[in-house]
Amino acid sequence: MVHGRKILLGVTGSIAAFKAVFLARELMRRGAEVRVVMTAAATEFVGPLTFATLTGHRVYSDFTEDADQGTWTNHVDLGLWADLFLVAPATAETLAAFASGACSNFLQAVHLSSRCEVMVAPAMDLDMFAHAATQKNLLTLRERGVLVVEPGSGALASGLEGKGRMEEPDRIADAVDAHFLARAPWRGQRVLITAGPTHEPIDAVRFIGNRSSGKMGVALAAEWAKQGAEVTLLLGPTSIAPPAGCAEVVRFETAEELNALAQARWPEADWGIAAAAVADVRPAFAHKEKVHRADLPAAIPLAPTPDILAQWGASKRTNQRLVGFALETDEGRASAESKFHRKQLDCIVLNTLLDDGAGFQTDTNKVSIYAGANWHTFELKSKAAVAADLVAFLHPYCYPS
Ligand code: C5P
Repeated sequence: MVHGRKILLGVTGSIAAFKAVFLARELMRRGAEVRVVMTAAATEFVGPLTFATLTGHRVYSDFTEDADQGTWTNHVDLGLWADLFLVAPATAETLAAFASGACSNFLQAVHLSSRCEVMVAPAMDLDMFAHAATQKNLLTLRERGVLVVEPGSGALASGLEGKGRMEEPDRIADAVDAHFLARAPWRGQRVLITAGPTHEPIDAVRFIGNRSSGKMGVALAAEWAKQGAEVTLLLGPTSIAPPAGCAEVVRFETAEELNALAQARWPEADWGIAAAAVADVRPAFAHKEKVHRADLPAAIPLAPTPDILAQWGASKRTNQRLVGFALETDEGRASAESKFHRKQLDCIVLNTLLDDGAGFQTDTNKVSIYAGANWHTFELKSKAAVAADLVAFLHPYCYPS
């Protein structure tokens, strides 16, 4: 869930600032974009250069760092940029400042101007943490919706033992992950996606295939996973890598293989998304060895492949939803509407090769969507943006999971 998120990491003046380096690295490893804000005290513990080098972005700690160039650091922009403002370590001083609304340094100004949620990972000595004032500040923050990653117990820098040491970076990253998951709109929905072409063997080296790249289906899987769905991606022979965050990715070559995978998983799915370009026919006989040129037949007898989507439609329960795709070389609406009814779909996505930049192998697509009433037409966009549009369009059709 952290993948693709913008996380503003606030580092304040505690010895645990060194652990923030590992936290930044862990969040980035999970796919987050991380920017760092430090208080002056934090820079005494860890140099800003460490974070700047690690994240690839300058570190912010003052309003006036660029003053000699006539610019100032905009705390409002930073606050608006972030999906989450994570303050780790958060000292007793910073917690008190947040609770009272103080604005006496740059990090505190970012706190007041951020619209995203705020998460703090306190770090301090056990008595400071247990102090009624600190506990009152934490309560105030919690009541305001601030998320608190409780400190752990153990040896403290003071030599004392007790509760106050900042939680370990992995665990804080898990808390960030859980935070995004809890708010993800598609949480609890199981989405089964077919993507890519099929290859129907003629012999050991030749096949009947099509020009599908699988890019659209992979973009859809990425978007649904990002939005918290439990994604199973059935991916055909393509060089496009499956996205991060899928619960399961299974590769297939032929329509028969895809059909076996798709039908086995369909009863457990809430959504079926048939983005694969499945061959309609296959060679009736596939030779195990390579057939030499001189022995190639003049004609290859063909046999139909199973219509996976039609079978999903025929066995669809009332709380399952089905989305088909239609790629046409003409305007296509009539034929897409006919597929919509014939295959018992809830939605069909049409792209026509009449539109420049739409269809196979491109990085862009232009789609129209039909869900039984009107056609909704979208602009030419990247396949990732088309996936975001489609996933947002379908969300109101979810049954509660
Ligand atoms: O009938 P047509 O092949 O144009 O239908 C396209 C839709 O049906 C796509 O969603 C495609 O993934 C699905 N389909 C399928 N199994 C087939 C053929 C098409 O699932 N054998």
